[in-house]
Amino acid sequence: MNMDKIRNFCIIAHIDHGKSTLADRLLQFTNTVTEREMQDQLLDNMDLERERGITIKSHAIQMNFPYKGEEYTLNLIDTPGHVDFSYEVSRSIAACEGALLIVDASQGIEAQTISNLYLAIGHDLEIIPVLNKIDLPGAQPEVVAEEVMEMIGCDREDIVLASGKEGIGIEDILNAVVERVPAPKGEVEAPLQAMIFDSVYNPFRGVEVLFRIFNGTINKGDKIKFVNTGREYEADEIGILGIQQKPQNELQAGNVGYLISGIKVAKEVKVGDTITHVKRPCSNTVQGFENVKPMVFAGIYPVETTDFEELRASMEKLQLNDASLVWEPETSAALGFGFRCGFLGMLHMEIIQERLEREFDMTVITTVPSVQFRALMNDETYAVVNAPSDMPEPNLFKHIEEPFVKASIITASDYVGPVIQLCMEKRGQIKNQVYLTSDRVELTFDMPLVEIVFDFFDKLKTISRGYASLDYELIGFKQSNMVRLDVMLNGEPVDALSAIVHRDKAYEWGKRLCEKLKELVPRQMFEIAIQAAIGTKVIARETVKALRKNVLAKCYGGDISRKRKLLDKQKKGKKRMRQVGNVEVPQEAFMAVLKLD
Ligand code: GTP
Repeated sequence: MNMDKIRNFCIIAHIDHGKSTLADRLLQFTNTVTEREMQDQLLDNMDLERERGITIKSHAIQMNFPYKGEEYTLNLIDTPGHVDFSYEVSRSIAACEGALLIVDASQGIEAQTISNLYLAIGHDLEIIPVLNKIDLPGAQPEVVAEEVMEMIGCDREDIVLASGKEGIGIEDILNAVVERVPAPKGEVEAPLQAMIFDSVYNPFRGVEVLFRIFNGTINKGDKIKFVNTGREYEADEIGILGIQQKPQNELQAGNVGYLISGIKVAKEVKVGDTITHVKRPCSNTVQGFENVKPMVFAGIYPVETTDFEELRASMEKLQLNDASLVWEPETSAALGFGFRCGFLGMLHMEIIQERLEREFDMTVITTVPSVQFRALMNDETYAVVNAPSDMPEPNLFKHIEEPFVKASIITASDYVGPVIQLCMEKRGQIKNQVYLTSDRVELTFDMPLVEIVFDFFDKLKTISRGYASLDYELIGFKQSNMVRLDVMLNGEPVDALSAIVHRDKAYEWGKRLCEKLKELVPRQMFEIAIQAAIGTKVIARETVKALRKNVLAKCYGGDISRKRKLLDKQKKGKKRMRQVGNVEVPQEAFMAVLKLD
């Protein structure tokens, strides 16, 4: 295939600006899918994705488009929009020469529009700005066009107006891709150099690796090597990605394709890794490879202690197809055997919990999420603190350090005051304030990651009536005065309710947590004391009064069916309860810290 006739591009956008809808239209217009195959949001083919209406994993698809009498091959790489998956976005971007920057004409530029744009510019991509949703009555294409021109320094004529919903501007977009996105460069004869930008787990065929070839040629049956993992495989099947996979004998520089080589474990495939030949390896790897690191940690425990082995088997299966999930066994005095898991972010954590329940029928308790702290020990080494129980004894370390992020928030100017106040409450420091237009502002803060992990985003949305968007990136560790706050139920410490909090906030936190737990822990036949403590010092206390009446007392007269109904009802309610000592604790209690005010 002639490289001049290939265009590799991705679509970047803030969440909900209409990326998937627009991608569907491009596929329809180019007859890549037939009407019959067409379902809404075709590229989001995981059930969960469709239900949540967000793209979780990137996918790629090839389209053919005739332009001025010549046939062009357009490789579209879809990218996830959520901040949890930003590393995948960066690899997808690195596989392309151009990007469609989709901006909702009724919303304007948002935080992820900017962060994704910077990523794309950083990789020298040709940017094609598209104002989408111009069919909406509230669309303000001219106002938003000004913002876009200001931001990327383009001309008004460069901006394409579109509506994915109504199918407006679709041909203009495809024309712009052919005219403006540069054809790939690379040498077909050079040693193979390809980059993995995604992988898809297929339980029958093994892991399908998606890659972009920068140099060289790959043939079916070639002996290949993944440079960063050092593993070698045979290219059992290679091909291009349509709605169905189309096997090929050969793929050359400039192209995008898939590879199947009997890999059974998702972890063996690292996004960003370089593929080359065993015999004639390339001298340089593709730049920018990173091992993705989990940002949020939490314990996952079976509700029934006897389900532990089954949970382990389920986690192992999940990990086969989600390489970013990490876990290790953990024992909690209160909850017994479980797992300490690392997630890319809160959304990722919710997804894992949901998948455990849906796909594996497990009922699990998730404990308070936290981040990775580290303790500078007396001997000048660092100890990793992934859980409150990892916190060393106070006499053994010098200080605790916590991860900080640079957070960028875009909001309407009316809400600047409340947003700054919220960020200060969350121990943020304002670093910059830029007016994008007369009424839209970008605020930049340095903030502890742990404060963002909790309910920050919900709060931000509330105080700004939805007019705020957030993006953040890790900038490093800073010394912080963190302490471990313990919770006791009837004098028994419940380790799964402990949290690492800032000392200045510990008192308030303990008090509110006890109040919240009092609401959540059901009354029982005896009184339950709820206490919060730092070390041996109790800082707050609440009491759950004893229940006086036996619930079954109502079922007078031996009406067995009624009794059974009531017991059944109670059993259902118990589904997500854990017995801790003699106290029953519901799942919500373990998450109570997320909703303290
Ligand atoms: P993520 O995958 O979550 O990042 O979202 P997305 O950017 O792919 O957005 P998606 O295509 O899922 O669209 C988000 C919402 O906007 C959906 O409810 C769509 O129906 C709606 N939408 C998309 N395009 C248009 C459009 O051109 N006009 C109007 N009125 N609504 C649209």
